[in-house]
Amino acid sequence: MNRIKHEILRSLRERVFVVLKIAAILSLGLCGCTESSQEEPLKAVITSDLHFTIQPEINGDIVPAMPYAREMTEVMSAQVMEMNPDVFIMTGDNTNSGRREDIIALVDILQKIKNAGIPVILTTGNHDKDQCTKEEYEELYFSLLEPEERDTETLSYSKTINDTVFLVMDDSFCTEGTGGQFPASTMTWLKEVLKEHKDLGHRIIFLSHHSVLTEDNRGYYQIQNQDLYKLLKKYGVKLCFTGHQHAQVILHKQKMYEIISGMTLTSPHRLGILECHGREVVYHTELLDITRLDAQARTAIEEGERQRSEEMRDIFLQILVREGVGSERIDGTMNLVMRYLAWQGEGVIGDHVQEITQDAYYQDMMTALKDTNYGPWISSILNAPPLPADHLEFTY
Ligand SMILES: [Fe+2]
Repeated sequence: MNRIKHEILRSLRERVFVVLKIAAILSLGLCGCTESSQEEPLKAVITSDLHFTIQPEINGDIVPAMPYAREMTEVMSAQVMEMNPDVFIMTGDNTNSGRREDIIALVDILQKIKNAGIPVILTTGNHDKDQCTKEEYEELYFSLLEPEERDTETLSYSKTINDTVFLVMDDSFCTEGTGGQFPASTMTWLKEVLKEHKDLGHRIIFLSHHSVLTEDNRGYYQIQNQDLYKLLKKYGVKLCFTGHQHAQVILHKQKMYEIISGMTLTSPHRLGILECHGREVVYHTELLDITRLDAQARTAIEEGERQRSEEMRDIFLQILVREGVGSERIDGTMNLVMRYLAWQGEGVIGDHVQEITQDAYYQDMMTALKDTNYGPWISSILNAPPLPADHLEFTY
Protein backbone atom coordinates (compact mmCIF):
# COMPACT_ATOMS: atom_id res chain seq x y z
CA MET A 1 0.00 0.00 0.00
CA ASN A 2 2.81 2.37 1.03
CA ARG A 3 4.69 1.58 -2.18
CA ILE A 4 1.60 2.43 -4.33
CA LYS A 5 1.15 5.69 -2.37
CA HIS A 6 4.84 6.53 -2.87
CA GLU A 7 4.56 5.85 -6.64
CA ILE A 8 1.47 8.09 -6.93
CA LEU A 9 3.24 10.91 -5.04
CA ARG A 10 6.39 10.53 -7.18
CA SER A 11 4.29 10.62 -10.35
CA LEU A 12 2.44 13.74 -9.13
CA ARG A 13 5.73 15.49 -8.25
CA GLU A 14 7.11 14.72 -11.72
CA ARG A 15 3.96 16.08 -13.40
CA VAL A 16 4.10 19.29 -11.31
CA PHE A 17 7.79 19.65 -12.21
CA VAL A 18 7.05 19.20 -15.93
CA VAL A 19 4.16 21.73 -15.76
CA LEU A 20 6.40 24.26 -13.97
CA LYS A 21 9.17 23.69 -16.51
CA ILE A 22 6.77 24.22 -19.44
CA ALA A 23 5.39 27.38 -17.77
CA ALA A 24 8.92 28.72 -17.29
CA ILE A 25 9.83 28.02 -20.93
CA LEU A 26 6.58 29.61 -22.12
CA SER A 27 7.13 32.70 -19.98
CA LEU A 28 10.67 33.05 -21.41
CA GLY A 29 9.25 32.80 -24.90
CA LEU A 30 6.54 35.36 -24.17
CA CYS A 31 8.94 37.97 -22.78
CA GLY A 32 11.48 37.31 -25.51
CA CYS A 33 14.29 36.77 -23.06
CA THR A 34 16.82 34.04 -22.64
CA GLU A 35 17.59 32.65 -19.21
CA SER A 36 20.92 34.48 -19.11
CA SER A 37 19.44 37.85 -20.03
CA GLN A 38 18.76 40.84 -17.80
CA GLU A 39 20.65 39.41 -14.87
CA GLU A 40 23.48 41.91 -14.67
CA PRO A 41 22.40 44.84 -12.50
CA LEU A 42 22.58 48.31 -13.99
CA LYS A 43 22.89 51.71 -12.35
CA ALA A 44 22.57 54.85 -14.47
CA VAL A 45 22.56 58.55 -13.62
CA ILE A 46 20.42 60.58 -16.02
CA THR A 47 19.77 64.24 -16.65
CA SER A 48 18.83 66.45 -19.59
CA ASP A 49 18.97 69.92 -21.10
CA LEU A 50 22.15 71.07 -19.43
CA HIS A 51 22.38 73.97 -21.96
CA PHE A 52 26.07 74.21 -21.05
CA THR A 53 27.90 77.37 -22.03
CA ILE A 54 31.06 79.20 -21.05
CA GLN A 55 29.96 82.43 -22.77
CA PRO A 56 30.74 85.09 -20.15
CA GLU A 57 27.93 87.38 -21.32
CA ILE A 58 25.21 84.74 -20.99
CA ASN A 59 22.05 86.12 -19.39
CA GLY A 60 20.81 84.54 -16.16
CA ASP A 61 17.45 86.32 -16.00
CA ILE A 62 15.37 83.24 -16.81
CA VAL A 63 17.78 80.54 -15.55
CA PRO A 64 19.88 82.12 -12.80
CA ALA A 65 22.42 79.25 -12.83
CA MET A 66 23.25 79.73 -16.55
CA PRO A 67 26.23 82.06 -15.96
CA TYR A 68 27.59 79.36 -13.61
CA ALA A 69 27.04 76.45 -16.01
CA ARG A 70 30.72 75.43 -15.88
CA GLU A 71 30.81 75.45 -12.06
CA MET A 72 27.48 73.59 -11.84
CA THR A 73 28.67 71.00 -14.38
CA GLU A 74 31.89 70.46 -12.40
CA VAL A 75 29.76 69.85 -9.28
CA MET A 76 27.54 67.44 -11.24
CA SER A 77 30.56 65.62 -12.61
CA ALA A 78 32.09 65.17 -9.11
CA GLN A 79 28.75 63.95 -7.74
CA VAL A 80 28.28 61.49 -10.60
CA MET A 81 31.77 60.05 -10.05
CA GLU A 82 31.00 59.58 -6.33
CA MET A 83 27.74 57.79 -7.21
CA ASN A 84 29.84 55.53 -9.44
CA PRO A 85 27.08 54.39 -11.84
CA ASP A 86 27.59 52.03 -14.79
CA VAL A 87 26.74 54.88 -17.17
CA PHE A 88 26.01 58.61 -17.20
CA ILE A 89 23.32 59.85 -19.63
CA MET A 90 22.11 63.23 -20.91
CA THR A 91 19.17 63.41 -23.32
CA GLY A 92 20.01 66.43 -25.44
CA ASP A 93 20.46 70.20 -25.47
CA ASN A 94 23.82 69.35 -23.97
CA THR A 95 25.12 72.79 -24.89
CA ASN A 96 23.08 75.96 -25.21
CA SER A 97 23.63 76.45 -28.94
CA GLY A 98 26.17 73.94 -30.29
CA ARG A 99 28.93 76.58 -30.10
CA ARG A 100 32.33 74.94 -30.70
CA GLU A 101 34.02 76.42 -27.61
CA ASP A 102 31.12 75.25 -25.42
CA ILE A 103 31.25 71.70 -26.78
CA ILE A 104 35.03 71.47 -26.24
CA ALA A 105 34.70 72.71 -22.63
CA LEU A 106 31.78 70.34 -21.94
CA VAL A 107 33.52 67.31 -23.43
CA ASP A 108 36.57 68.17 -21.30
CA ILE A 109 34.45 67.89 -18.11
CA LEU A 110 32.57 64.76 -19.26
CA GLN A 111 35.88 63.11 -20.19
CA LYS A 112 36.74 63.09 -16.46
CA ILE A 113 33.62 60.98 -15.85
CA LYS A 114 34.66 58.62 -18.62
CA ASN A 115 38.25 58.47 -17.30
CA ALA A 116 36.77 57.34 -13.97
CA GLY A 117 35.45 54.26 -15.80
CA ILE A 118 31.89 55.55 -16.32
CA PRO A 119 30.77 55.53 -19.99
CA VAL A 120 28.97 58.68 -21.14
CA ILE A 121 25.89 58.62 -23.40
CA LEU A 122 24.47 61.80 -24.97
CA THR A 123 21.62 62.21 -27.41
CA THR A 124 21.38 65.30 -29.58
CA GLY A 125 18.83 68.01 -28.80
CA ASN A 126 17.38 70.69 -31.06
CA HIS A 127 19.83 73.29 -29.66
CA ASP A 128 22.90 71.09 -30.15
CA LYS A 129 22.82 71.78 -33.88
CA ASP A 130 22.11 75.55 -33.78
CA GLN A 131 25.75 76.32 -34.58
CA CYS A 132 27.09 72.83 -35.26
CA THR A 133 26.90 70.62 -38.34
CA LYS A 134 26.44 66.85 -38.22
CA GLU A 135 30.12 66.39 -39.16
CA GLU A 136 31.33 68.81 -36.47
CA TYR A 137 29.13 67.09 -33.86
CA GLU A 138 30.68 63.76 -34.77
CA GLU A 139 34.20 65.19 -34.70
CA LEU A 140 33.74 66.85 -31.28
CA TYR A 141 31.66 64.27 -29.40
CA PHE A 142 32.14 60.79 -30.81
CA SER A 143 35.56 59.96 -29.33
CA LEU A 144 33.91 60.56 -25.93
CA LEU A 145 30.77 58.59 -26.76
CA GLU A 146 32.26 55.63 -28.67
CA PRO A 147 29.03 54.55 -30.45
CA GLU A 148 28.58 50.85 -31.29
CA GLU A 149 26.06 50.39 -34.14
CA ARG A 150 25.46 53.62 -36.06
CA ASP A 151 22.64 54.93 -38.26
CA THR A 152 23.96 56.33 -41.53
CA GLU A 153 21.57 59.27 -41.97
CA THR A 154 21.38 60.71 -38.44
CA LEU A 155 23.64 60.74 -35.38
CA SER A 156 21.66 57.88 -33.80
CA TYR A 157 23.63 54.97 -32.33
CA SER A 158 23.42 52.10 -29.88
CA LYS A 159 25.47 51.48 -26.75
CA THR A 160 25.39 48.32 -24.67
CA ILE A 161 26.13 48.45 -20.95
CA ASN A 162 25.94 45.16 -19.05
CA ASP A 163 22.74 43.46 -20.36
CA THR A 164 21.08 46.71 -21.37
CA VAL A 165 21.17 48.29 -24.80
CA PHE A 166 20.55 52.02 -25.05
CA LEU A 167 19.10 53.24 -28.35
CA VAL A 168 20.54 56.73 -28.46
CA MET A 169 18.37 58.53 -30.98
CA ASP A 170 19.02 61.73 -32.90
CA ASP A 171 15.48 63.05 -33.49
CA SER A 172 16.41 66.49 -34.80
CA PHE A 173 15.99 65.50 -38.46
CA CYS A 174 13.09 67.95 -38.59
CA THR A 175 14.52 71.16 -40.02
CA GLU A 176 11.65 73.48 -39.10
CA GLY A 177 10.74 74.61 -35.60
CA THR A 178 11.84 72.68 -32.53
CA GLY A 179 10.03 69.41 -33.22
CA GLY A 180 11.45 65.89 -33.42
CA GLN A 181 11.31 63.42 -36.26
CA PHE A 182 13.28 60.50 -37.75
CA PRO A 183 13.79 59.97 -41.48
CA ALA A 184 12.36 56.72 -42.93
CA SER A 185 15.82 55.12 -43.18
CA THR A 186 16.41 55.75 -39.45
CA MET A 187 13.11 54.03 -38.61
CA THR A 188 14.32 51.02 -40.66
CA TRP A 189 17.68 51.05 -38.83
CA LEU A 190 15.85 51.32 -35.48
CA LYS A 191 13.69 48.32 -36.32
CA GLU A 192 16.76 46.22 -37.19
CA VAL A 193 18.58 47.16 -33.99
CA LEU A 194 15.45 46.52 -31.89
CA LYS A 195 15.07 43.06 -33.40
CA GLU A 196 18.74 42.21 -32.92
CA HIS A 197 18.75 43.16 -29.24
CA LYS A 198 15.38 41.59 -28.49
CA ASP A 199 16.77 38.34 -29.90
CA LEU A 200 19.82 38.73 -27.67
CA GLY A 201 17.48 39.08 -24.67
CA HIS A 202 18.77 42.54 -23.78
CA ARG A 203 16.82 45.04 -21.73
CA ILE A 204 16.17 47.86 -24.22
CA ILE A 205 16.03 51.52 -23.14
CA PHE A 206 15.07 54.18 -25.69
CA LEU A 207 16.70 57.61 -25.41
CA SER A 208 15.72 60.69 -27.38
CA HIS A 209 15.35 64.43 -26.85
CA HIS A 210 11.71 64.76 -27.88
CA SER A 211 8.91 62.81 -26.29
CA VAL A 212 7.41 59.47 -27.28
CA LEU A 213 4.28 59.65 -25.11
CA THR A 214 3.45 63.37 -24.79
CA GLU A 215 0.20 63.95 -26.70
CA ASP A 216 1.09 66.82 -29.01
CA ASN A 217 -0.22 67.10 -32.56
CA ARG A 218 1.48 70.50 -33.04
CA GLY A 219 4.88 68.80 -33.11
CA TYR A 220 6.59 70.92 -30.46
CA TYR A 221 7.20 68.13 -27.98
CA GLN A 222 6.40 64.73 -29.48
CA ILE A 223 8.42 62.79 -32.06
CA GLN A 224 6.24 62.97 -35.17
CA ASN A 225 6.76 59.45 -36.61
CA GLN A 226 3.27 57.95 -36.25
CA ASP A 227 4.48 54.35 -36.03
CA LEU A 228 7.20 54.87 -33.39
CA TYR A 229 5.14 53.86 -30.32
CA LYS A 230 3.84 50.72 -32.06
CA LEU A 231 7.36 49.74 -33.14
CA LEU A 232 8.80 50.16 -29.63
CA LYS A 233 5.90 48.16 -28.14
CA LYS A 234 6.39 45.38 -30.68
CA TYR A 235 9.97 44.88 -29.54
CA GLY A 236 9.14 45.02 -25.84
CA VAL A 237 10.51 48.47 -24.98
CA LYS A 238 9.11 49.54 -21.63
CA LEU A 239 11.28 52.49 -20.68
CA CYS A 240 12.20 55.72 -22.48
CA PHE A 241 14.20 58.71 -21.23
CA THR A 242 13.71 62.05 -22.95
CA GLY A 243 14.06 65.78 -22.24
CA HIS A 244 13.24 69.05 -24.06
CA GLN A 245 10.40 70.13 -21.75
CA HIS A 246 12.74 71.38 -18.97
CA ALA A 247 10.35 70.10 -16.29
CA GLN A 248 10.49 66.67 -14.68
CA VAL A 249 7.53 64.49 -15.76
CA ILE A 250 6.82 60.73 -15.83
CA LEU A 251 4.29 59.47 -18.38
CA HIS A 252 2.94 56.00 -19.01
CA LYS A 253 0.86 54.25 -21.64
CA GLN A 254 0.01 50.56 -21.53
CA LYS A 255 3.03 49.52 -19.46
CA MET A 256 5.47 51.76 -21.31
CA TYR A 257 7.03 54.46 -19.13
CA GLU A 258 8.70 57.68 -20.26
CA ILE A 259 10.80 59.70 -17.84
CA ILE A 260 11.20 63.28 -19.08
CA SER A 261 14.19 64.60 -17.16
CA GLY A 262 14.06 68.26 -16.08
CA MET A 263 16.68 70.89 -16.82
CA THR A 264 19.73 70.39 -14.60
CA LEU A 265 20.42 74.09 -14.08
CA THR A 266 16.92 75.01 -12.90
CA SER A 267 15.71 74.50 -9.37
CA PRO A 268 15.43 71.92 -7.80
CA HIS A 269 18.57 70.83 -9.79
CA ARG A 270 17.70 67.16 -9.98
CA LEU A 271 19.65 64.06 -11.11
CA GLY A 272 17.78 60.84 -11.93
CA ILE A 273 19.10 57.50 -10.70
CA LEU A 274 17.97 54.32 -12.43
CA GLU A 275 18.68 50.93 -10.86
CA CYS A 276 17.79 47.64 -12.53
CA HIS A 277 18.14 44.32 -10.73
CA GLY A 278 16.93 41.46 -12.90
CA ARG A 279 13.46 42.57 -13.99
CA GLU A 280 12.97 45.06 -11.14
CA VAL A 281 13.37 48.67 -12.23
CA VAL A 282 13.59 51.45 -9.65
CA TYR A 283 14.02 55.15 -10.47
CA HIS A 284 14.42 58.00 -8.01
CA THR A 285 15.96 61.45 -7.97
CA GLU A 286 18.63 63.19 -5.93
CA LEU A 287 19.43 66.87 -5.83
CA LEU A 288 22.62 68.35 -7.20
CA ASP A 289 24.69 69.35 -4.18
CA ILE A 290 25.02 73.08 -4.82
CA THR A 291 26.63 73.55 -1.41
CA ARG A 292 29.81 72.46 -3.24
CA LEU A 293 29.79 75.67 -5.28
CA ASP A 294 31.92 78.56 -4.10
CA ALA A 295 30.02 81.01 -1.90
CA GLN A 296 29.75 83.75 -4.55
CA ALA A 297 28.22 81.44 -7.20
CA ARG A 298 25.85 79.81 -4.73
CA THR A 299 24.63 83.13 -3.34
CA ALA A 300 24.09 84.52 -6.86
CA ILE A 301 22.09 81.44 -7.96
CA GLU A 302 19.97 81.32 -4.80
CA GLU A 303 19.30 85.07 -5.00
CA GLY A 304 18.37 84.79 -8.70
CA GLU A 305 16.00 81.91 -8.02
CA ARG A 306 14.43 83.81 -5.13
CA GLN A 307 13.86 86.79 -7.44
CA ARG A 308 12.29 84.55 -10.09
CA SER A 309 9.93 83.17 -7.47
CA GLU A 310 9.06 86.74 -6.34
CA GLU A 311 8.34 87.70 -9.97
CA MET A 312 5.94 84.76 -10.31
CA ARG A 313 4.32 85.77 -7.03
CA ASP A 314 3.84 89.35 -8.30
CA ILE A 315 2.27 88.09 -11.56
CA PHE A 316 -0.28 86.00 -9.67
CA LEU A 317 -0.93 88.69 -7.06
CA GLN A 318 -1.78 91.18 -9.83
CA ILE A 319 -4.20 88.68 -11.41
CA LEU A 320 -5.95 87.96 -8.09
CA VAL A 321 -6.35 91.67 -7.32
CA ARG A 322 -7.54 92.41 -10.86
CA GLU A 323 -10.11 89.58 -10.66
CA GLY A 324 -11.54 90.97 -7.43
CA VAL A 325 -10.29 88.58 -4.73
CA GLY A 326 -11.06 90.49 -1.51
CA SER A 327 -8.33 91.61 0.88
CA GLU A 328 -9.54 89.12 3.53
CA ARG A 329 -9.07 86.22 1.04
CA ILE A 330 -5.95 87.31 -0.81
CA ASP A 331 -3.25 85.90 1.53
CA GLY A 332 -4.89 82.46 1.71
CA THR A 333 -5.42 82.35 -2.08
CA MET A 334 -1.84 83.41 -2.80
CA ASN A 335 -0.58 80.80 -0.37
CA LEU A 336 -2.50 78.11 -2.28
CA VAL A 337 -1.24 79.37 -5.68
CA MET A 338 2.37 79.29 -4.47
CA ARG A 339 1.98 75.80 -3.00
CA TYR A 340 0.49 74.62 -6.30
CA LEU A 341 3.41 76.09 -8.28
CA ALA A 342 6.00 74.59 -5.92
CA TRP A 343 4.48 71.09 -6.14
CA GLN A 344 4.07 71.40 -9.88
CA GLY A 345 7.75 72.44 -10.20
CA GLU A 346 8.87 69.54 -8.04
CA GLY A 347 6.81 67.14 -10.16
CA VAL A 348 4.79 65.88 -7.19
CA ILE A 349 1.43 67.56 -7.91
CA GLY A 350 -0.27 64.15 -8.15
CA ASP A 351 0.39 63.61 -4.42
CA HIS A 352 -1.43 66.84 -3.48
CA VAL A 353 -4.61 66.91 -5.59
CA GLN A 354 -6.96 66.28 -2.67
CA GLU A 355 -5.18 68.80 -0.46
CA ILE A 356 -5.52 71.47 -3.18
CA THR A 357 -9.12 70.81 -4.22
CA GLN A 358 -10.30 70.67 -0.61
CA ASP A 359 -8.44 73.81 0.40
CA ALA A 360 -10.68 76.63 1.74
CA TYR A 361 -9.28 78.96 -0.96
CA TYR A 362 -9.55 76.57 -3.94
CA GLN A 363 -12.69 78.19 -5.40
CA ASP A 364 -11.17 81.68 -4.99
CA MET A 365 -8.06 80.54 -6.92
CA MET A 366 -9.93 78.84 -9.74
CA THR A 367 -12.49 81.64 -10.16
CA ALA A 368 -9.76 84.28 -10.32
CA LEU A 369 -7.64 82.33 -12.83
CA LYS A 370 -10.40 80.97 -15.06
CA ASP A 371 -9.95 83.55 -17.84
CA THR A 372 -6.15 83.34 -17.88
CA ASN A 373 -3.92 80.61 -19.36
CA TYR A 374 -3.24 79.36 -15.83
CA GLY A 375 -6.83 78.38 -14.92
CA PRO A 376 -7.42 75.80 -17.69
CA TRP A 377 -3.83 74.53 -17.25
CA ILE A 378 -4.32 73.95 -13.49
CA SER A 379 -7.74 72.39 -14.11
CA SER A 380 -6.43 69.94 -16.69
CA ILE A 381 -3.57 68.88 -14.41
CA LEU A 382 -5.79 68.40 -11.37
CA ASN A 383 -8.34 66.43 -13.44
CA ALA A 384 -5.68 64.05 -14.81
CA PRO A 385 -2.65 64.38 -12.54
CA PRO A 386 0.65 62.99 -13.84
CA LEU A 387 2.56 60.28 -12.01
CA PRO A 388 4.90 61.54 -9.29
CA ALA A 389 8.01 62.63 -11.18
CA ASP A 390 10.57 61.79 -8.52
CA HIS A 391 10.17 58.03 -8.30
CA LEU A 392 9.01 55.02 -10.31
CA GLU A 393 9.07 51.27 -9.78
CA PHE A 394 8.00 48.58 -12.19
CA THR A 395 8.90 45.14 -13.49
CA TYR A 396 10.58 45.09 -16.91
FE1 LIG B 1 16.28 72.47 -23.87
